[in-house]
Amino acid sequence: MPKRLWNLFCRSRIGRSIFRVGLPASSLDRMRAAVSSFVLHIHPAKVHARTLKFSTTFGLGLISLYLFIILSVTGALLMFYYVPSTTQAYDRMLDLRGTVAFGIFLRNMHRWAAHAMVAVVFLHMCRVFLTGAYKPPREFNWVIGVFLLLVTFFLSFTGYLLPWDQLAFWAITVGTSIAGYAPVFGKEVKFLLLGDSTVGQEALLRFYVLHVAVLPIVLTMLATIHFWRIRKDGGLARPAEEDAASGDASGAGDVAIVSAPAVVIATSAGAAAAARPLAEKRQYGIQGLVRGQLTKVGSLSDRFRFSWPDLFQAELLVFVITVAGILLVSLFFNAPLEEPVNVMHPPNPAKAPWYFLGLQEMVSYSAFWGGVGIPTIEVLILLLVPYLDRKQVGVGKWFAKERLLPNSLFMTFAVVNVVLMVIGTFFRGANWEFVSPW
Ligand code: HEM
Repeated sequence: MPKRLWNLFCRSRIGRSIFRVGLPASSLDRMRAAVSSFVLHIHPAKVHARTLKFSTTFGLGLISLYLFIILSVTGALLMFYYVPSTTQAYDRMLDLRGTVAFGIFLRNMHRWAAHAMVAVVFLHMCRVFLTGAYKPPREFNWVIGVFLLLVTFFLSFTGYLLPWDQLAFWAITVGTSIAGYAPVFGKEVKFLLLGDSTVGQEALLRFYVLHVAVLPIVLTMLATIHFWRIRKDGGLARPAEEDAASGDASGAGDVAIVSAPAVVIATSAGAAAAARPLAEKRQYGIQGLVRGQLTKVGSLSDRFRFSWPDLFQAELLVFVITVAGILLVSLFFNAPLEEPVNVMHPPNPAKAPWYFLGLQEMVSYSAFWGGVGIPTIEVLILLLVPYLDRKQVGVGKWFAKERLLPNSLFMTFAVVNVVLMVIGTFFRGANWEFVSPW
């Protein structure tokens, strides 16, 4: 019944002005729905079967996106209550906890989704590296990804100050003092961030504006280019053999409908085509739209699936699991809120947010190298990776044998950073002395 009502609505004058296709009943309709809808047309009409396999990506890029959406929605709701003032911010946190309906739940969701996003974006970067998916033609998308990672860190960091409790104040004091170790411009950068020489009202206002407006806009713009590039680079990276098996030399999987009713062409996915060794060209004819036997190049099997329903269902499932996970964690664990800020009583040790504790640990050995030198070199190497390692081997395969050296180097980088973070979090006590967590 709802299906019939929906179809009736879609066929009405108003319905047709909004949705060009009703609930699709055929492959042609499904394809047309995918390319004519604002949200769905970000996807190709067909994707390679490998894209749909969970182990290809573990859904990590999508989960990052969904966490950002959860953060935007809960963040907008929190903005109705929050005031970026040193005299009011903490009280507003107490209000959220005590008097605002579902206030604490909203804050929990925002806080846990923010932590999760930092971790998931990092894991997504690891998956892209370990499957060699940064190689041509995807070098630039990797570079955009590195900026996305940095913006994610900075978004989380600027949000940390807003509750204006002891944890927030001292974490940001430590974090921004790390920026101050930079040579030449260190002091200026710190002043630019804080609007003052210490963390106070100016810093709170600056962090607030960065957190609710500037950085989300930057992240949205970068993410939009990131998704557009995924399509233009020929969908997700996959081994060359897969294309040979499917008869798709361009690696595109990027099928576009050229105006209704029914002519379909394969786009050549520009750079992707240039970068891959060409085998036979995949071709789509009008027959590609009707159910049943397709015209195939030779006797090769067609490994492409319609995005509707296969890809959309998978994306919906990942969305539901992500939202459910955050809801569940928020139900059982409250976001921390410590005492109100007391500038005379720093906790000992005063720790930066967990994802900067690796830096803080390195700073304890050398302020300049730990806080600025090594992180800058790490970011530069990450940005250059796809331009240094260009050989088309092991692309789209986890831990490919041919990529033993780059994968080992990357794993060392990732593990060292995680170990330093763990040491900073659990093994450092008063005066940054080594302590046992047990
Ligand atoms: C806010 C952060 C990010 C979001 C929302 C995001 C989202 C996505 C999505 C949805 C995909 C396709 C599906 C998937 O791989 O799971 C993807 C692919 C990709 N991402 Fe990201 N990403 C982010 C950060 C990064 C970072 C930090 C890097 C690397 C430094 C990166 C590099 C790439 C590359 C190269 C691809 C194409 C992979 C392939 O062809 O297999 N992304 N991203």
